[in-house]
Amino acid sequence: YCTMDDFELDGKTVLLRAEFNSPIGPDGKILDDKRIRESAPTIKELEDSKVVILAHQSRPGKKDFTTMEEHARLLQRYIKQNVRYVDDIFGSHAKTAIVEAEAGEVVMLENVRFYSEEVLELAPHEAAKAIMVKKLAPFAQVFLNDAFGASHRSQCSLVGFTPVLPSGAGRLMQKEIDSLTEALKGGGEVVYVLGGAKVDDSISVIRNVLEKKIATRVLVTGVVASVFLAARGLDIGKPNMGFLDKSGLSGEIPRAKELLRQFGEMIAMPCDVAVNKDGKRVEVNVKQLPTDYLISDIGHETIASFSDIIRHADKVILNGPAGIFESQEFATGTRDILMAATKARFSVVGGGHSAAAVEEMGIGDKITHLSTGGGAAIDFLGGKPMPAIEALKAAKKRMMGPVG
Ligand code: 3PG
Repeated sequence: YCTMDDFELDGKTVLLRAEFNSPIGPDGKILDDKRIRESAPTIKELEDSKVVILAHQSRPGKKDFTTMEEHARLLQRYIKQNVRYVDDIFGSHAKTAIVEAEAGEVVMLENVRFYSEEVLELAPHEAAKAIMVKKLAPFAQVFLNDAFGASHRSQCSLVGFTPVLPSGAGRLMQKEIDSLTEALKGGGEVVYVLGGAKVDDSISVIRNVLEKKIATRVLVTGVVASVFLAARGLDIGKPNMGFLDKSGLSGEIPRAKELLRQFGEMIAMPCDVAVNKDGKRVEVNVKQLPTDYLISDIGHETIASFSDIIRHADKVILNGPAGIFESQEFATGTRDILMAATKARFSVVGGGHSAAAVEEMGIGDKITHLSTGGGAAIDFLGGKPMPAIEALKAAKKRMMGPVG
């Protein structure tokens, strides 16, 4: 793929797909702006270009699905260029803002997932026909993709511009690819720790890393663990099954069951959990399930045994929190597991929420690579094809023209 070194960018209009998807609290404030901060070097380097940023925040239907206004405000803190947020993606307001901007200015467009075609997974040649691409491409001379965190998606803002514009990777994309490629070298005891609430992605990853013999052990925490406990036939209790139903995750139980049948002993589940009893942390051994309360963390015994496995691993790849770490009572699992990861010979932590916890704990320098990618980092390490990176590679081939 091409990088920023391959283009003359001064004075040009650069369409930049950034990854600003961030954890957002109930008050609408961004809890951790790491992804925005990490994008700053790319944007600063474009100080003599007109930069038009496309990015997403969450997914339709989720509580944190919102506008990019706050992201634009935060970005302004980290770069010298003036950032103008426009509440439009490719309509007349967006076009006017792009035309009126000068070199050295940044136009932050609206959440691309407000637009229905964006949430489809399309091949680049199909994505190139999307209205967003047709409307925006004529305004830019170069497309840069810096959204490593979304590079496992094949959505039109990620793969639709590469067939029609000279395209390359931004600095963050380049750094992530370099570090994670390095992470894939060597063997030994490789432990994947999967938590958080993106159970569908985690299950695909578990299958991938176990089938390809990349991981020697998988530890499940967070909501992923609840799904696996249910898949093992345990009654996790009404509030927990209700939560899985409400989040559309109960459909993952059969997939988890199949994995347990195939790889049973390689997948370690919690032996105890912590439930939220009127705001208090109460430890419950899984043998005592069902519970009438919401499972909100892994239990103390599990924390001890998982930490031990992690500390002794050659490589630990960790994605997603072990519990509701925003609440003091239920942050122990996430914190202790991350502390254990700092002791492993090599550690990769991915996922917006896990990265936020690492930053909050101030242990970023003890983690080998703190990725801005959650599912993307994990898919990359699992050897899955990364559509947005493949699209950049195809764009380079196209730009070089036919050989011979
Ligand atoms: C992420 O945070 O993993 C990326 O922004 C992709 O988000 P998605 O899983 O909603 O596509």
